[in-house]
Amino acid sequence: MSENKKKLRSQEWFGKTDKMGFIYRSWMRNQGLPDHAFDGRPVIGICNTWSEYTPCNAHFREIAEHVKRGVLEAGGYPLEFPVMSLGETLLKPTAMLFRNLASMDAEESIRGNPMDGVILLAGCDKTTPSILMGAASVDLPAIVISGGPMLNGKYKGRDIGSGTSVWQFTDDVRAGRITQEEYYYAESCMSRSRGHCMTMGTASTMASMVEALGMGMPHNAAIPAVDARRKVLANMAGSRIVQMVKDDVKISDILTRKAFENAIVVNAAIGGSTNAIIHLLAIAGRVGVELNIDDFDKLGHDIPLLLNLMPSGKFLMEDFYYAGGLPAVIKELGSLIHLDALTVNGKTMGENTENAPCYDREVIAPLDKPFKERSGIAVLKGNLAVDGAVIKPSAATPKLLKHRGKAVVFESIEDYHARIDDPDLEIDENCVMVLKEVGPRGYPGMPEVGNMGLPKKILEKGIDDMVRISDGRMSGTAYGTVILHVSPESAIGGALALVQNGDIIEIDTEGRKLHLEVSDEELATRKEAWKAINLGYERGYAQLYINHVQQSHLGADFDFLRGKSGAEVKRDSH
Ligand code: FES
Repeated sequence: MSENKKKLRSQEWFGKTDKMGFIYRSWMRNQGLPDHAFDGRPVIGICNTWSEYTPCNAHFREIAEHVKRGVLEAGGYPLEFPVMSLGETLLKPTAMLFRNLASMDAEESIRGNPMDGVILLAGCDKTTPSILMGAASVDLPAIVISGGPMLNGKYKGRDIGSGTSVWQFTDDVRAGRITQEEYYYAESCMSRSRGHCMTMGTASTMASMVEALGMGMPHNAAIPAVDARRKVLANMAGSRIVQMVKDDVKISDILTRKAFENAIVVNAAIGGSTNAIIHLLAIAGRVGVELNIDDFDKLGHDIPLLLNLMPSGKFLMEDFYYAGGLPAVIKELGSLIHLDALTVNGKTMGENTENAPCYDREVIAPLDKPFKERSGIAVLKGNLAVDGAVIKPSAATPKLLKHRGKAVVFESIEDYHARIDDPDLEIDENCVMVLKEVGPRGYPGMPEVGNMGLPKKILEKGIDDMVRISDGRMSGTAYGTVILHVSPESAIGGALALVQNGDIIEIDTEGRKLHLEVSDEELATRKEAWKAINLGYERGYAQLYINHVQQSHLGADFDFLRGKSGAEVKRDSH
């Protein structure tokens, strides 16, 4: 037996002397596990979202090997296990539909198996929140390791960014500015190494949130996937989790209200994705931290944008790492951050960042000379979004942030695709494009379609932005004057469902207002006539999702998943 004083959770399996102990150990021995794997040393689970269907996470088996080195060096024993992997690009109808399902997989896999601490390997957008949500509901010691961003995309001598450049190239080819051959050529120029999207999209945002929350080791956010220092970080995290088990430092010791406030401030300073709102709300719901959508505006709206990264700026994650990474941003934010917040390496946020150097002020701007003023997410409210809608002003066209325009309504994404390039569509650049039925229940799964492309005839005029409103999300790599997450959503009869062609919509970002200029009486009449669309999901997970998903302003988690059940399992398997 090791010198650990406290009996570890894994000993509830491996420490038994009866029939159950035989069963728990014997089958594990078929993998070559030695006696000392069962002797009371910390058993560390490595929760792996590896999959070849998730290209952003396809290198994770290798990262896991470096975690194992660290665990073994520190006297623990590592056991790697797979959980559902959500590949953002391939998974239909949208990876977000399965975030909660993957979180359940992670939660039950962690709780039901012998482990004393867990390393969470995440990368592609939804893999980070899903396994962090699941792990939070068990509340063991845990460290998240992100897979790291791809190298900068390179196209004809210039940098191009994941996602962001897809939207640009697609507009270019539709407007005839590039050929179809150039469009194909750009595919391999953009994704040219292992790793996740290298813009400040949702994956990079969530990797940064992991670090800002204190759930990741310093520099977790930005080390490129191919940089050997990513392997070093994995090795260090493997060693550190063993000590966290010995010290009994659990997720709930790290994920405090202060940690979430830090994450909100950092998300504003880096120009992070609007998707972080939904994921942070869901994670907070699991650990029981009070957090609401207004906190993002209250705490983030005054924060200047320090990071000059696509889609809000011009650089990419590789440049961010070389410029000093997230510790340099946090150091710059100084007293805007709770520097006493604990992080997984056992130090406070202040201790981790006090000596962080910045090597490139063009990439990471100083606080007194930011890249843009006031970059945080704005939460708009009004009769069109009683519970809120969000906009990312740093990615929007400044003159459209205050706007009045005639609604052009698309009743569904299919309706949008069918009519957007119809030459007879009555639309000009002053109109407000409205898309319905893309919220959590409506799609279902709240897809990233909110940044719907502009009509071809408007693009051909050289105009590349219009106000767009929906109850959906947009990719963190996207940009434009796009109002998202309208809550309540149209599928449950929110006011968005009642908008008609020609209605006037007023957006006032500074005044935090989203107003449909239709009288209350008229809206009541329209509501009376409104009928919910039958989505046609009679069985299976989609039906469970529709029946239990909460609205976006609550994080779109399932109502029955909020909170935690802890790590205890009272019954044996046989
Ligand atoms: Fe996986 Fe962007 S598609 S991170």
